[in-house]
Amino acid sequence: MTISHRHYHITTFGCQMNKADSERMAGILEDMGFEWSEDPNQADVILYNTCTIRDNAEQKVYSYLGRQAKRKHEQPNLTLVVAGCVAQQEGEALLRRVPELDLVMGPQHANRLKDLLQQVFDGNQIVATEPIHIIEDITKPRRDSKVTAWVNIIYGCNERCTYCVVPSVRGVEQSRTPEAIRAEIEELGRQGYKEITLLGQNIDAYGRDLPGVTPEGRHQHTFTDLLYYIHDVPGVERIRFATSHPRYFTERLIRACAELPKVCEHFHIPFQSGDNEVLKRMARGYTHEKYRRIINTIRDYMPDAAISADAIVGFPTETEAQFENTLKLVEDIGFDQLNTAAYSPRPGTPAAVWEDQLSEEVKSDRLQRLNHLVAIKAAERSQRYMGRLEEVLVEDQNPKDKTQVMGRTRTNRLTFFTGDIHELKGKLVKVKITEVRAFSLTGEPVEVREIVSV
Ligand code: SAH
Ligand code: SF4
Ligand code: F3S
Repeated sequence: MTISHRHYHITTFGCQMNKADSERMAGILEDMGFEWSEDPNQADVILYNTCTIRDNAEQKVYSYLGRQAKRKHEQPNLTLVVAGCVAQQEGEALLRRVPELDLVMGPQHANRLKDLLQQVFDGNQIVATEPIHIIEDITKPRRDSKVTAWVNIIYGCNERCTYCVVPSVRGVEQSRTPEAIRAEIEELGRQGYKEITLLGQNIDAYGRDLPGVTPEGRHQHTFTDLLYYIHDVPGVERIRFATSHPRYFTERLIRACAELPKVCEHFHIPFQSGDNEVLKRMARGYTHEKYRRIINTIRDYMPDAAISADAIVGFPTETEAQFENTLKLVEDIGFDQLNTAAYSPRPGTPAAVWEDQLSEEVKSDRLQRLNHLVAIKAAERSQRYMGRLEEVLVEDQNPKDKTQVMGRTRTNRLTFFTGDIHELKGKLVKVKITEVRAFSLTGEPVEVREIVSV
């Protein structure tokens, strides 16, 4: 079999960080001569890029792996790779659990995939989980979209939230240089990408690890500086970013977002709990009052801004009254979207071994009550779009109705309208909103904006 007929398949679990890593690993595999296969059963190399943020995310991987490990007995040439956060967490233990595996590689090793695979093809079984300096820009990602793109700006996380595995699986913060980030965005602009999302687990930490201090004693390269530095890249029409941490969110950043026309009016700022005692036990470093002040300041500068967040219910020792403080925050703020989760004890995290873990019943009851409120508030927030003209960046066909295209408003609301994807993909269209639902909108196209690049 010639090299050009070998196929690879990647299944990605977890967050945007993993999606971005998968796109880079796919780029490496294509560079090595592999072709994409949608069906894992047709692939010669199968890579699972895994997530371990909650126990159910981790367990999902084992069931996928079990199936492919069986297949390997009939097809010994099959190469099985586990990448991402479960790989980092479990390391060699994964090989003991699934001896059929060829390669276990942590997220910091994503850019080294070619090297690692070559060692596997030489006959080695490899575990790559030691902390390393992330090698820059040697890869050309194979991006899933032609319209929107992820751009990593900082890897890792130095926070120590007591429930969270991310710092132990993603390692310490490593910022890319402003020059490398800008070069990647310029290339995206040349390739016709219209929207970029800057990525980091704690994006406000950007630059802390880079050399240089200003005369006022602040880091030379803050996230706000980076926004000013990249916002005029030609061709790119929209800039988003995630995830923000309330501890570090500054008014200076809010002002920059209001000032810079390409930065979209959508903020994803997880609050996790609306109760100060719980926040303290989570080691989040802010109070609900501070969180409310941030949102108020955003709304002072940008009254229509969309706010989304993450929240956890059933953290160890959370009382009914403390949970109600979370409900109260959700009621008061009115989130456009909220990702909710029941607390899941994670290996190696402090909260996992605390006494007073709550029962699954209590957690799932609180989760349901919170989700119910979230849907009500999101539907209320959607009402404001009714009859309005919104700018939608067309990304794709509506998979459920081929006569429609779909895209997002600047505030990140998914919007559908009638149109031909071949004509509209990557276009900014003014859409009059005629139908609103809790998490999506429908409208009629009014005008396609001709983009004149600056
Ligand atoms: N860096 C981001 C979030 C990363 S993890 C931040 O600081 O907010 C994504 C979300 O998963 C978190 O916001 C949190 O809501 C949830 N999460 C993390 N650990 C969890 C756990 N042990 N149990 C339940 N949810 C968890
Ligand atoms: Fe986890 Fe906290 Fe870091 Fe977010 S900031 S990734 S929740 S440790
Ligand atoms: Fe999951 Fe790792 Fe992201 S644990 S949420 S894939 S950083």
